[in-house]
Amino acid sequence: MNDTAHPETIAAQALGHIDTASGGVVPAFNPSTTFVRDKDNALVRPDNSYLRDNNDTVRLAEQVLAALEGAPAALLWPSGMAAIAAVVRQLRSGQHMVLQSGIYWGTTRFVRHYCHEHGIQLTEMDTADPSNIKALSHLSPDLVMIETPSNPWLKVTDIEAVRAAAPDAVLVVDSTAATPILTRPIALGADIVIHSATKALNGHSDVLAGVLLPREENAFWAKLCEERAVAGAVIGTFEAWLLVRSLRTLPLRVKQMCSNAQQFAEHASTQRFRPFYIRVCRITRNFQLRNSK
Ligand SMILES: Cc1ncc(COP(=O)(O)O)c(C=O)c1O
Repeated sequence: MNDTAHPETIAAQALGHIDTASGGVVPAFNPSTTFVRDKDNALVRPDNSYLRDNNDTVRLAEQVLAALEGAPAALLWPSGMAAIAAVVRQLRSGQHMVLQSGIYWGTTRFVRHYCHEHGIQLTEMDTADPSNIKALSHLSPDLVMIETPSNPWLKVTDIEAVRAAAPDAVLVVDSTAATPILTRPIALGADIVIHSATKALNGHSDVLAGVLLPREENAFWAKLCEERAVAGAVIGTFEAWLLVRSLRTLPLRVKQMCSNAQQFAEHASTQRFRPFYIRVCRITRNFQLRNSK
């Protein structure tokens, strides 16, 4: 199967992967940390040497995620925070980062601490407010990190507007709430997409995971690959296997989540929660606009 198939097909069939040894349509679960060599000490599978760098199950999960996101590659991490931290750790003293305010508190806490400890200038701004995007264009940051829709306020940032305002920055988009079923930030100008796969991507409350996906495999991406290989923040085989299982139903689950949210919002509109209703409708309209592109 190629990765131009519909997301529903990519997800349901895990890119058509089968276990050739058994003929099973579900990938085999192999927890080996090390791999056999022949009598000349050559690896029987040259791409499998040691589990930290070479894991068939992790590679499969990454391929499915990359195909869903429209990215050329993916890197899985043992949590969403591990993925976020790896990106932020690429900044050096004297550089300038812009972080969206009012996002997932764990991200804000890590970024504030890291920037403070390493002499990185940090500007926090509400990028969901279009009037602030203009201010962004005067800052010339090295890296901009946004989260859309944001957790917990569900604020929506216009990714294309941020791209236009900071053309030279590495633009990082935490798209956890949207999933690749609703938004594909790379098509809107993102350089790196982040997901906490712990949330909707896995969706069964039994895996902690994070993923990074690049627009292109450039020097910044190479540094992230190096960071994971050297620092060793790798996800376990079983978690990756569970994630592949979960991704098969991602499009169906997201569809149902949207339908539930819409029904709840419509009900809330008749009650005391009108501001919430307006926000959900704004998000739904935003996704419709994005998806019609
Ligand atoms: C938007 C967002 N990004 C990142 C994270 C961190 O992910 P994890 O809990 O997998 O480390 C969370 C967790 O709630 C989140 O909501």
